[in-house]
Amino acid sequence: MGLKLGLSSVVSRMGSLDGRKSCKLVFRLLITLFVGILMKNSFSLAASLPFEIRPSFQALKAEFEDGRFVCRVSDFGATGNGEVYDTSAIQSSIDYCANQGGGVVYVSPGENLTGTLYLKSNITLWVDKGATIVGSARQEDFLAHWTRWYTILAEDAENVELTGGGIVTGQGLKFVVEFKEEKNIMVSWNVTGDCVGDECRPRLVGFINCKNVHIWNVFLREPAYWCLHIVKSNIISIHDVSMHGDFNSPNTDGIDIDSSNNTVIKDCHIDTGDDAICSKSELGPLYNLTVTNCWIRTKSCAVKLGSMTNFNLGNLHFEQLVIVDSHRGLGIQLRDSGNINNVTYANIQMSTRYYHPSWWGLAEPIYVSACPRTPDTVLGSVNNVHYMNITTTSENGIFLSGLEESFLKGLHFRNVKMTLARSTNFTGGYHDYRPGCQGLVTHRMSGLFMEYVKDIWMQEVFVQWKGSNVSDWGLPIDFTPSTVGNMHLMNYENTYTV
Ligand SMILES: *[C@@H]1O[C@H](CO)[C@@H](O)[C@H](O)[C@H]1NC(C)=O
Ligand SMILES: *[C@@H]1O[C@H](CO)[C@@H](O)[C@H](O)[C@H]1NC(C)=O
Ligand SMILES: *[C@@H]1O[C@H](CO)[C@@H](O)[C@H](O)[C@H]1NC(C)=O
Ligand SMILES: *[C@@H]1O[C@H](CO)[C@@H](O)[C@H](O)[C@H]1NC(C)=O
Ligand SMILES: *[C@@H]1O[C@H](CO)[C@@H](O)[C@H](O)[C@H]1NC(C)=O
Ligand SMILES: *[C@@H]1O[C@H](CO)[C@@H](O)[C@H](O)[C@H]1NC(C)=O
Ligand SMILES: *[C@@H]1O[C@H](CO)[C@@H](O)[C@H](O)[C@H]1NC(C)=O
Ligand SMILES: *[C@@H]1O[C@H](CO)[C@@H](O)[C@H](O)[C@H]1NC(C)=O
Ligand SMILES: *[C@@H]1O[C@H](CO)[C@@H](O)[C@H](O)[C@H]1NC(C)=O
Repeated sequence: MGLKLGLSSVVSRMGSLDGRKSCKLVFRLLITLFVGILMKNSFSLAASLPFEIRPSFQALKAEFEDGRFVCRVSDFGATGNGEVYDTSAIQSSIDYCANQGGGVVYVSPGENLTGTLYLKSNITLWVDKGATIVGSARQEDFLAHWTRWYTILAEDAENVELTGGGIVTGQGLKFVVEFKEEKNIMVSWNVTGDCVGDECRPRLVGFINCKNVHIWNVFLREPAYWCLHIVKSNIISIHDVSMHGDFNSPNTDGIDIDSSNNTVIKDCHIDTGDDAICSKSELGPLYNLTVTNCWIRTKSCAVKLGSMTNFNLGNLHFEQLVIVDSHRGLGIQLRDSGNINNVTYANIQMSTRYYHPSWWGLAEPIYVSACPRTPDTVLGSVNNVHYMNITTTSENGIFLSGLEESFLKGLHFRNVKMTLARSTNFTGGYHDYRPGCQGLVTHRMSGLFMEYVKDIWMQEVFVQWKGSNVSDWGLPIDFTPSTVGNMHLMNYENTYTV
C-alpha cells in the first residue's frame, strides 16, 4: 500500500467510500513518516535539474516503495509571508516533482501568496493543515485569456490530487468594488474585451480535461468567482471539502461540473453566495454524477442542472442533502438542445426563503423550467425525474414550467412533505423565469404550479400552509388543463393552519 493508492484507487473508492477514513489515516501516517525520513536524507539534485534553481535549493527524494517523491515547497525558495509571491517556488516544486514521474508537493503551514499554479499528472498538492495558498488579486498574475484564470489549475492531466487539510483562498473580498447588502458590485477584469461583466473574475480551482481527479480534506475559501470548476474530465472524487464564498457576492458558485463523467461528491459543506452545486453540458455530455451527504446554503440555487445544456445530462443522483435558507432548492433549467434524463433526488431536507430579487430564485424548493436561450434554439427535453423522501419548509411552492415544444415529462414525486410559511417580509407573488423567457412576472403563488407538463405522478405528497400573512398566497395547485397531460395525484393532501 503506497502513496499512489491515494490516486489510483479513486475509482475503486467510488464504489466503496466506507474505506475512506482508514485510507485517509494511512495516507496521513505515510506522509508523516515520509517527511520524517526525508528530513534525514535530503540531498541536492541541483545538477540534474532541467530548470533554473535558487541557491538555497535542496530537493528531497524519498525511496518510497512506489517511488513517489515529496517535494517541499519551502526547499524551492518559497518564503511564505503572504506578501511576497511564492509562485515560482511552488511551481518549480510541482514541475520538479512531475519530472520525477510525480509525487507529493508539500506546502507547510504558513501563508503562500501565489499567481496561477499549474498542477501536473501524478501530482498531489498537499496543502498542510495550517497552510494557506492565497490566490493573487492582481490581473497581471494571470494568463491573458479569462478562460484560464484560476489560482490552481490542472489541464490535460491524470491522477491529480488536492488535499492536506489546509486552505486555498481567492481573496474574493478584494474584488468587491462596492459592498451592498442586497448584492455586492464586483470588479470586472474586462480590459481585453473578451469577457463581459460578471464573467471577468478568476476562479479558484479548476480541472480541465483531466482524468482521476481527487479533491478532499481541503478548505476552499473566498473565491472571486466560481470556487471549484471541473471541465471535460472523467472520474472525479470530491469529498470532505468545505467551501465558503461571500454570501453577498455574485457568481461565488461552489462546484461547477461541466461536460464531465463519473463524478462523486460526498460529505461536503458548501456555503456560498451563488449556486452551490451546478452541473452543465456546455462542451460535451455529462453522465453519472452522484452527490451525497452534503450541507448547503446559498443565496441562489442549491443543486442546479443547467442552464448551459448543449449536450445530454444523464444519470444524476442527489441524496441525503441538507439545504438551509437557500433561495432555491433543487433546480433544473433547460435552455439548449441537450436532453436531461434520469435524475433522482432522495432523502433531502431543506428550507428556502426569499432574498433580494436581484438574485435568481424565489424560494421554490423544487424548480424545473424549459426556456430557449435564443429564438433559434431547438430545445431538448427533461425526462424521468424522481423526487423521493423530501421535506421542505419554504416561502413558495413547486414550480414546473415546460413549453409547448418541450413538455417536461415523467416527473415523479413520492413522500414529499412541504410546509409553506412566510419567514421574511420580501414581497412574493411572482414567477421567476430568469435568466431569459418572461423573466420576473407577477403571478399569484401556489403550492404546485405547472405548465406544459406530461406524465406527472404525485404520491404521498403533503402540503401544509401555515401562518396568518397570506396576502400573496394563491392556489394549492395551479395549472391550465390544456397544458397538463396525464396527471396522477395519489394521496395528495393540502391543509391550512394558522
Ligand atoms: C509557505 O509559508 C511558510 C510559512 O510562512 C514558509 O515557511 C514556506 O517556505 C512557504 N512555502 C511552503 C510551505 O513550502
Ligand atoms: C503517471 O503515473 C502513471 C502510473 O505510474 C504512469 O503510467 C504515467 O505515465 C504517469 N504520467 C505522467 C505524465 O508522468
Ligand atoms: C467592463 O465592465 C464594466 C463594469 O461591468 C463596464 O462598465 C465596462 O463598460 C466594461 N468594459 C468593457 C471593455 O467591456
Ligand atoms: C463522457 O461520456 C460520453 C459518453 O460515453 C462521451 O461522449 C464523453 O466524451 C465523455 N466525456 C469525458 C470528458 O470523458
Ligand atoms: C456511467 O456509469 C455506468 C455504471 O454505473 C457505466 O456503465 C457507464 O459506462 C458510465 N458512463 C460513462 C459515460 O462513463
Ligand atoms: C435512463 O434510464 C432508462 C431506464 O432505466 C435507461 O433505459 C436509459 O438508458 C437511461 N438514460 C440515461 C441517459 O441514463
Ligand atoms: C424513502 O424512505 C423510505 C422510508 O423511510 C425508505 O424505505 C426508502 O428507501 C427511501 N427511498 C430512497 C430512494 O432512499
Ligand atoms: C423586514 O424584516 C427584517 C428582518 O428579517 C427587519 O429587519 C426589517 O425591519 C423588516 N422590514 C419591514 C419593512 O418590516
Ligand atoms: C404581510 O406581507 C406583506 C408583504 O408580503 C407585508 O407588506 C406585510 O407587512 C406583512 N404583514 C405582516 C403582519 O407580517
